[in-house]
Amino acid sequence: MHDIVIEDIEELESLLSRVYWIEEEFEQMSLWDAFASVDEKYRDILFKLAHDSEKHKIMLKKLIDNVEGLDLDRLKESIKGRQSLKIKRRLIDEEILSDIARHDTLALDIYTKIHDCTSRELIEGAWKGDDPDDFYHTFSELIGHEKRHLEILKPYVGKLQRIR
Ligand SMILES: [Fe+2]
Repeated sequence: MHDIVIEDIEELESLLSRVYWIEEEFEQMSLWDAFASVDEKYRDILFKLAHDSEKHKIMLKKLIDNVEGLDLDRLKESIKGRQSLKIKRRLIDEEILSDIARHDTLALDIYTKIHDCTSRELIEGAWKGDDPDDFYHTFSELIGHEKRHLEILKPYVGKLQRIR
């Protein structure tokens, strides 16, 4: 994973749009059909995750604004047609959490890839803020949050795997 280098803005924008889409889907988690049937003890977890995704989207927006060549409207346009994450009605709660963990893992992978592989030269050249390190700090923070989410979900996902 670390041998690749993200050297152009288009590549960065494409990764950002994928992860932005995931955060947007999670942010709207409380509106999902499946959510209504979720046990109360799980609902708290989902609320926390949905709330964090809202925060993550704000962090991403701020970052996108600070990189010359990235365009939030264009990025949003590119994910418009994407089919939303369908969490099925009749899934049992552990399966819902397991599905969410799968998407959180994907978000973690993308954040890690951007953090580890984005060319410093690219960011130094394109950063509109004071310190280009802020770009990398933002992703470190996001990586930390996603890891915490996966820790929270782990007991339930593990439980499901044992049932199977
Ligand atoms: Fe997130």
